[in-house]
Amino acid sequence: MSFSGFKCFACAREQPADYAGFVCPACGGNLELLYPYDELKKGPSALFPVVGRPDIFRYAALLPSTRLDLAAPLRIGMTPLYHAKRLGASVGLDHVYLKDDGLNPSASFKDRAGAVALLRARETGASVIAGASTGNAGSSMACLAASVGMPCVIFVPEKAPAAKIAQLLVFGAKVIAVRGAYDDAFDLCMKISTERGWFNRNTGFNPFTREGKKTCSFEICEQLAWQAPDRVVVATGDGNIISGIWKGMRELHAIGRIDRLPKIDCAQSEASAAICKAVRQLRAGGRLPSDWNAVTIAPVSATTLADSISVDIPRDGLAAVRAVIESGGNAVTVSDEKILAAIPELARQAGVFAEPAAACAWAALRKMAEEKLVRPGERIVCLITGNGLKDITSARRVAGEPFTVDNNIDAVRRLMDEG
Ligand SMILES: Cc1ncc(COP(=O)(O)O)c(C=O)c1O
Ligand SMILES: [Zn+2]
Repeated sequence: MSFSGFKCFACAREQPADYAGFVCPACGGNLELLYPYDELKKGPSALFPVVGRPDIFRYAALLPSTRLDLAAPLRIGMTPLYHAKRLGASVGLDHVYLKDDGLNPSASFKDRAGAVALLRARETGASVIAGASTGNAGSSMACLAASVGMPCVIFVPEKAPAAKIAQLLVFGAKVIAVRGAYDDAFDLCMKISTERGWFNRNTGFNPFTREGKKTCSFEICEQLAWQAPDRVVVATGDGNIISGIWKGMRELHAIGRIDRLPKIDCAQSEASAAICKAVRQLRAGGRLPSDWNAVTIAPVSATTLADSISVDIPRDGLAAVRAVIESGGNAVTVSDEKILAAIPELARQAGVFAEPAAACAWAALRKMAEEKLVRPGERIVCLITGNGLKDITSARRVAGEPFTVDNNIDAVRRLMDEG
């Protein structure tokens, strides 16, 4: 199945499926892809998912391509959903699930987006794929592009964690390390991509990345026997993951695969909280906006050490704010200290190693539990969006120190006896 058109998040104007731009021609807003949901609802249920396909393309009925032969040959998605009983019990919750997207080919959630962006680039005959990234979107794009031999140019802040830069270089991307922040990398990538006619996968701007991200919702519901969870907690920077998660849930609902919608909770660092602030401000106003075009999201000066969610201007901000407000989710901010503390909590109580941005989702859920913003019996999915090996410097700050001994068994015995 392919998609039927585009709709603007801000002004709601629609464009036909052959519209070649990425943003709304009327107002410059971000676009979302539409599908013939009523038709899909009536169709044979075998259409969805494609049985036996071990990756996100099992949901071909709700993906924007008919050329799956052009998809990257790597296994993207179908990551495990763990019922983390001990972790949940530590804050009085019975049904906490961890969706471990750190197990994707390049070790982050971003492989979902990259896979669909790459497919679109190849389908439309692009010769180069480019993108700006806090690190993960770029290393993912580099990995996927390498798997099909597509030239790839990635713009990252020069201070991105070493592991992410190493990934970019190992996969053979042309890496432009920008002296500045992610937002500077984003703008540079926009300019050169337009000038050179490259396929630009920049988050928010490119509507196809959201299509990959929504597949996580399809998987979560499939893994829960086609039942929606009560909540999904999503660490948020630009807001593209959270908007993708909400779109995936809305689409499953529209085609009758799930019978109710979950709440989507936005987790941010206090030191990079543009979306949470906007949600709170709108809620304080007491009424849902009737005109989303009139909503503005004030930029912040992000300083969080959770590099993947360190964003001044959220590039999919409006769609993210809508996801939280329309779903009735919470907007939760946590300190960087709590984010770091969440890394060993996840690792020691669930066996899952998360990078700081990913641990932010758990830190936020812990806070929601402590503040009684969630009920003990709710089924809550915490997205683990990136693997802890992406940023071992942060992990080592909270992991403790090894016991150093000489090569001497007596020293080890003494240590063990001391407990
Ligand atoms: C590990 C991780 N978590 C969360 C996010 C936030 O996603 P978004 O910027 O779409 O809000 C990112 C984005 O780079 C990420 O890499
Ligand atoms: Zn518009």
